[in-house]
Amino acid sequence: MHRRLAFRSSNSLSYDARMSLPSPDTNRTCVVTGASSGIGSEIARQLARRGLGVTLVARREDRLRTLADELSSTCNIRAEVVSCDLTERSSRDRLAQALDDRGLTVDVLVNNAGFGTTGLAHQMDRDRELGMIRTNVEALVDLCMIFGRGMADRGGGAILNVASTAAFQPVPGQAAYAATKSFVLSYSHSLRAELGRSGVSVTVLCPGPVDTEFADTAGFEAGEAEGAAPKFMWIPADRVAQEAVDGLARGKAVVIPGLANRLTAIGGYFAPRRVVTSLVASRHPALQRTRP
Ligand SMILES: NC(=O)c1ccc[n+]([C@@H]2O[C@H](COP(=O)([O-])OP(=O)(O)OC[C@H]3O[C@@H](n4cnc5c(N)ncnc54)[C@H](OP(=O)(O)O)[C@@H]3O)[C@@H](O)[C@H]2O)c1
Repeated sequence: MHRRLAFRSSNSLSYDARMSLPSPDTNRTCVVTGASSGIGSEIARQLARRGLGVTLVARREDRLRTLADELSSTCNIRAEVVSCDLTERSSRDRLAQALDDRGLTVDVLVNNAGFGTTGLAHQMDRDRELGMIRTNVEALVDLCMIFGRGMADRGGGAILNVASTAAFQPVPGQAAYAATKSFVLSYSHSLRAELGRSGVSVTVLCPGPVDTEFADTAGFEAGEAEGAAPKFMWIPADRVAQEAVDGLARGKAVVIPGLANRLTAIGGYFAPRRVVTSLVASRHPALQRTRP
C-alpha cells in the first residue's frame, strides 16, 4: 500500500491504492493470450471497454485481426495483434521483442491461453500431453517472468492467470489438465504475495464449465461435456470475463464465477481425495468410454 502511494506521488501514472487496473488510456497495454476464441476474446472486449489498449496473442492471426478491428472501432482504443505459438520458448521471446519494437510497456498481462485433454493418463498421446503442460504451465510462468519483472521495477501492474475449478481437486479422466490448473492456482497465490510488495496485483480466475471451443479441443464427444455438469453450472464466456476483469480491477486474489462453481470448488478442495476421485471417475465421460 505504501509503495503504491509513493509510486503515485512520484510518477504521473495513476494506479489507485486499491485498484490494480490502470485508468482508461489507450496508450496502456494489456496483453491477452488466447484472444482468438472463448474466454480470452471476451476478456479482451472487457479491457477494451474500459478504455485500455490491447495486444491480442494466439496462433490464429485472422481471428485476432477481426477482433482487433472490432475493438479499435467500437471502443476507440489501440489494438494490435501478435501471432504466436506460446508453447515455443522462441515464440515467446519473439512476442516480447514485438512489444519492445513497438515501444509498448505491458501494464496488464492476461495468461488465458490453454487447452485440455481427456482420457486415461497412461494412454494419452505423449506429444499432445507434454504440449499441454508446456502451454498451460511453462508458457504462463515464462510470461509472468518476462513481463512481471518490468511491472515490479515500475511499481505497478496487474496479472490475471486463468486456472479452473479443476485446480481444486484431482480429475480422473483429465489428470494432467487438472494438475496444470492446480499449478496455476498455487503459483498465482505465491506470485501475488511476492509481487504485492512491489505494487503489482495478481488475480487467478477459476471458471467452471464455459461453452467455448474448449470441449472440442479437449476431445469430448458430442454432448459429453454438456452432460458432465448440470446446466446451472455453465456460465457464458462474457459473464466469466466480466467477473474476471471486475475482480482484477478490485485486486481480488481468486475469482470463481457462479455460486454453484464456488461451492463445488470448496467441496472439491476439502473432501477426502478418495471420495473425490471415485466420484469423478464414476461420472467422467472419458472414463465411461474407456471402461474395461
Ligand atoms: N471452457 C471451459 O469450460 C474452461 C473452464 C475452466 C478453465 N478454462 C480455461 O480457460 C482458458 C481459455 O479457454 P477457452 O474455454 O476460452 O477455450 P478456447 O475457446 O479453446 O480458447 C483457447 C485459446 O487458447 C489459445 N491457445 C491454445 N494453445 C495455444 C498456443 N500454443 N499458443 C497460443 N495460443 C494458444 C487458442 O488460440 P489459437 O488456437 O488461435 O492459438 C484460443 O484462443 C484456458 O486456459 C482453459 O483451460 C476453460
